[in-house]
Amino acid sequence: MEVDSQTQLIGLIGHPVSHSRSPQMHNAMFQKLGLNYTYLAFDVLTEYLKEAIEGMRALNIKGFNVTIPHKVNVMKYLDQISEEAKRIGAVNTIVNDKGQLIGYNTDGEGYLRSLVEETDVQLKGKRVLMIGAGGAARAIGYTLANTPIEQLSIINRDQNKAHILRKDLEHYAKTEVLPMEQIEKGVKEADIIVNTTSIGMSPNIDQSLIDKEWIQPHQLVSDIIYNPLETKLIHDARSQGASVHSGLGMFVYQGVIAFEKWTGVTPDPSYMKKKVIESIN
Ligand code: ATR
Repeated sequence: MEVDSQTQLIGLIGHPVSHSRSPQMHNAMFQKLGLNYTYLAFDVLTEYLKEAIEGMRALNIKGFNVTIPHKVNVMKYLDQISEEAKRIGAVNTIVNDKGQLIGYNTDGEGYLRSLVEETDVQLKGKRVLMIGAGGAARAIGYTLANTPIEQLSIINRDQNKAHILRKDLEHYAKTEVLPMEQIEKGVKEADIIVNTTSIGMSPNIDQSLIDKEWIQPHQLVSDIIYNPLETKLIHDARSQGASVHSGLGMFVYQGVIAFEKWTGVTPDPSYMKKKVIESIN
């Protein structure tokens, strides 16, 4: 579909944004479904965040995705924030509903949807080890803590941040913080291991916080990184006979949920996934 005077704009705001695959993923889906929308990435510095949001309102931009470093700061400029995003403490999707700017967080639900769609894991009674306590960890931790898992253990380089997250989640599930020195024990005792840190992300593709030998066949190893499509951690887990879940699915499904909120139309996750893979290879 050609861009014309009726075209609705969706934007990504972050800094940097040049690595993002969201434009390729969403534009391909808009085209396929014949929806008159277009998606552009805007590199917005923190000192212009307020103006960017005011601009969204003034120009009647239909929606935004929000990425690092604005996911927390953007909240103060919005009219409404979903309960989930409030509890996570971050927004990654904004919908402009006739001038009302509503903030959502689709990262946690996107993670869970991809986990359920792409693995045969049963969460009930499982001990989960989550590495990291940043924005993505907050979303995933909140979502997992609201499933019938047995326990959520958190390990983070900055242990203080892990304690803050633990406190925020203790109402929903049994939680604990392990010091980084106990990562080996933590991995060995877990059923599900989730890496939410940036360790292993391109270009540092030979890095992992977890020794291959610690991983066992009965475990599920999940990494939220999608570039490279298979991290060293996922490669190691696969070679140890463990089940694996890579970050591509979370990226696609957070986009699927955002797409539904902006357009009211349900997109095709496998088509979006194919377009992301094409953009990485
Ligand atoms: P995101 O929104 O992707 O979660 P973030 O909020 O910046 O990004 O969080 C990044 C996570 O990766 C944090 O858990 C961070 O650990 P700290 O809280 O200690 O900073 C983790 N991380 C990043 N670089 C790391 C490194 N070199 N070693 C260990 N952890 C690292």
